[in-house]
Amino acid sequence: MTCRVVVLLSGRGSNFRAIAEAGLPIEIAAVISNRLQAAGLDYARERGIPAIALDHTEHPDREAYDALLADEVERHRPDLVVLAGYMRILSTAFIARFEDRLLNIHPSLLPMFPGLKTHERALEEGVKVHGCTVHFVTPQLDHGPIVIQAAVPVRADDTPDTLSARVLAQEHRIYPQAVRWFAEGRLVKKDGRVNLKDDPASQSVLSTGA
Ligand code: GRF
Repeated sequence: MTCRVVVLLSGRGSNFRAIAEAGLPIEIAAVISNRLQAAGLDYARERGIPAIALDHTEHPDREAYDALLADEVERHRPDLVVLAGYMRILSTAFIARFEDRLLNIHPSLLPMFPGLKTHERALEEGVKVHGCTVHFVTPQLDHGPIVIQAAVPVRADDTPDTLSARVLAQEHRIYPQAVRWFAEGRLVKKDGRVNLKDDPASQSVLSTGA
């Protein structure tokens, strides 16, 4: 049975695009954005994928908005919900409803640099390696079981823009991979860790990008 995926995003949607174009064994049942103008919605429409805007500014109460959002997501009967640049903190009720089928991508090597402005902070700290992480979502922000990470070297002349471009290229590699593993039923979560089925050493879970 094809894995039904619902994508949540807020902006340009390049990760959604990477997932949509990766030839995965999935059906993207809908793309939902909290921002009416999100470029990701336009791309969804171009591909004939149902694109739905649910304007959060019309619903000041986060719990109420998230309840509406959850109902809309559920309507598309997802096996997996993919956060792809969804720039709002989700309520615990939302997360509980989609537990174990909710993935996020974060532009840092978690648990370093949760939250915003990760590239600026990485440069400020002088780290030599930076990267991105796909993880299952739990109520603790940017802190769920890690599925896959990719590392990139930090260069002496990097700016937040050059570093983020290098990380983004890796995001486009690891998010489709994580979704593929999920769709194939290969992600096994145990004691807060994720292992890959039929790969006891989980070698392929670590991915290093150039
Ligand atoms: C990415 O850097 C992602 O890691 C973060 O938000 C950004 C979304 O970019 N969560 P895009 O909309 O997928 O292009």
